[in-house]
Amino acid sequence: MNNYKVDEWKIIEESFDPQRVEGSESIFSIGNGMMGQRANFEEDYSGKMLRGSYIAGVYYPDKTRVGWWKNGYPEYFAKVLNSANFIGIRVSIDGESLDLNKQKVVSFSRTLDMQHGLLQRSFVVELSNGKQIQVVAERFMSMARPEIAAISYSIASLNSDASIAIEGYIDGDVVNEDSNYNEKFWDEVAKGAAANCGFLTMKTKKLDFNVCWNMRLAYTINGVDSHPHSSEVEKEKYVSSNVELTLQKGQNLTITKLVAVTSTLNHPLDKLVDKSEALLDAASSAGFEALKSEHTSKWLEKWQHADITIEGDAEAQQGIRFNIFQLFQTYTGEDERLNIGPKGFTGEKYGGSTYWDTEAYCLPFYMATAGEHVARQLLIYRYRQLDKAIENAAKLGFNNGAALFPMVTMNGEECHNEWEITFEEIHRNGAIAYAIKRYIDYTGDKSYLAEYGLEVLIGIARFWAQRITWSDERQKYVMLGVTGPNEYENNVNNNWYTNYIATWTLKYAAESIAFVKSSSADRWNAIEKKVSFNTTSELEKWADIAAKIHLPYNEKLGVIMQQDGFMDKEQILVKDLDPSQRPLNQKWSWDRILRSVFIKQADVLQGIYFFEEDFDFETIKKNFDFYEQRTVHESSLSPCVHAILACKIQDMERAKLMYLRTARLDLDDYNKEVNEGLHITSMAGSWMSVVEGFGGLRIKNDTLYFNPFLPENWKSLAFKVIFRGRTIKAKFEAGKTTLTNESELPLAVFVKDTMVNIPANGVAEV
Ligand code: BGC
Repeated sequence: MNNYKVDEWKIIEESFDPQRVEGSESIFSIGNGMMGQRANFEEDYSGKMLRGSYIAGVYYPDKTRVGWWKNGYPEYFAKVLNSANFIGIRVSIDGESLDLNKQKVVSFSRTLDMQHGLLQRSFVVELSNGKQIQVVAERFMSMARPEIAAISYSIASLNSDASIAIEGYIDGDVVNEDSNYNEKFWDEVAKGAAANCGFLTMKTKKLDFNVCWNMRLAYTINGVDSHPHSSEVEKEKYVSSNVELTLQKGQNLTITKLVAVTSTLNHPLDKLVDKSEALLDAASSAGFEALKSEHTSKWLEKWQHADITIEGDAEAQQGIRFNIFQLFQTYTGEDERLNIGPKGFTGEKYGGSTYWDTEAYCLPFYMATAGEHVARQLLIYRYRQLDKAIENAAKLGFNNGAALFPMVTMNGEECHNEWEITFEEIHRNGAIAYAIKRYIDYTGDKSYLAEYGLEVLIGIARFWAQRITWSDERQKYVMLGVTGPNEYENNVNNNWYTNYIATWTLKYAAESIAFVKSSSADRWNAIEKKVSFNTTSELEKWADIAAKIHLPYNEKLGVIMQQDGFMDKEQILVKDLDPSQRPLNQKWSWDRILRSVFIKQADVLQGIYFFEEDFDFETIKKNFDFYEQRTVHESSLSPCVHAILACKIQDMERAKLMYLRTARLDLDDYNKEVNEGLHITSMAGSWMSVVEGFGGLRIKNDTLYFNPFLPENWKSLAFKVIFRGRTIKAKFEAGKTTLTNESELPLAVFVKDTMVNIPANGVAEV
């Protein structure tokens, strides 16, 4: 099953397979939070590929295209914007263009060194004239200087002299694969090229994001500086600087290409080129090796805080490191305007940057590894978009400050336009409310409520109060026409998860009002006035809904029902599905999927995971067994929750299977779609499955609890969490837990049922 060699710190591909090019472009993606790209080759490649390079925060509002317009649809879909190819180094040898799709590949290997953040590749090809050419390339997007990318590209002619032409270029003539009207989204603004350098400034249509790519090229032969004569080309959306030289047999030509990428997100328009020049001056005088070493130091620092070690299972180890690595490449927490797109910088399938994934899956990872301030920033991101969420709800007919946060967004506006998702997948609102509680429980930062959280909670609670209907027939409140997290059902009535999280929000919002009222009366008065809150009637209504909500349940089975009518479906189990029919979303019609019992991601289990304290062991076990057998995990977000619950019920065999499925989802391409890009947000779910699943981390009453259970073959598991001013390292081995406190403050925690005091800068064993 493994396409890549199992190694604890590296992803290694040892041969070249044209069928795997697009998948590997995703897997080997590199980025630094500010920009990132698929692992395309520097030289030309004429085979099937997806060339993709992306800049955080730069997007295009592509006019909505649907078969049948429905009122309430957003005007546009925010495309994650493919941008200039700046890694390009075109090589021709004796007039023949270097292209792995055309030449005989004698050897090929590619490595993603996750510890140091480096992408390395080497290969030998045989040209049509029999000459063998070796290339060794390395590149990185600097973590130390986030607007700098660096490439070192070495060529040797192994068996004879060769005449080589090199074209180092920036090509802005790119297109998004998913452009709705085959439109190109970038216009050229300015360009220029001179000996061994060149810049290109482009601007996006409609929103006028301006970006300047500026490159410098340098050459050495056998390590000695070389200054071949260069000639430049400038054409539409393109600049290059070209050299020609003769390489003697065995000589090694190294091209260093440094690129600065500056944009109007961070600099004034009239300074873009100057700024990129200044960045390049500094980068060139540092040189490739110094840039590399400061970049790798940054990665080592990140790993210091965020690494997870699993001894005894190299596949499990590689999987979690790959996930942590990709998460930090996507979002570093340094820019409050950014968020965590489901594909990061690795593909275009999902537009927008912010989904419920952030709150439901990513928050715990960033909270525990990057710190409280990063988690707070992610919450404030939504606070800033509250007005837009209120406008969004108003468009759909809600009033009185009801807020519906978008399913997908870049700037607070909804940009998803499938009715069953845009209008119906409203559970996302619940996750945004739940994240506030999760953050406060973890950090103890209750001031967040008065400052920001409460206004968001009121907006969301008002939405639920209006979205719910009173059923005279049932004498219960019901919620009609929704899509739960299980998108393999649409327009269902009383999706249990949605009803549960909606009523939970009503209760939590009411409690939060009471808390702010008593702890910061002035602030409450200001909020009450600002949102025109009717304390009597609104709170009464919320309490009534919470008391009389219909929550589907099957008495006979003793199992929560995903939605009304779930048992009317033909009850087949996943184990009886013909494997050739999977993944269902690639093999079956949508109609067949909707009618079937099969679940993309089990939302009852998602609810049990969030509200675990509300359910006893038996209930969790029964529901887990029922839904796990019907779940096909075709949402990347699915297996992590199953892994956590399997640990909870101590089904370690299934926990491990589910863990491997989440942590190695892309590496082993479980859902046959890695070519489209990686599943970045679910990678934070993998982290949860280790820390909350196998480590059993929970916060109860301001206290950290661990309840470790390891799969049989794991000799040990260790991770660190930042918790209330402390960094705690927890290491679990059979029958032994070692807790190290890397801070000045002591901490009392629980391991299973034993209280353990970990002294400041000290160690405790239990
Ligand atoms: C899932 C959604 C998720 C989205 C982005 C979809 O396949 O069903 O829950 O928000 O992917 O990750």
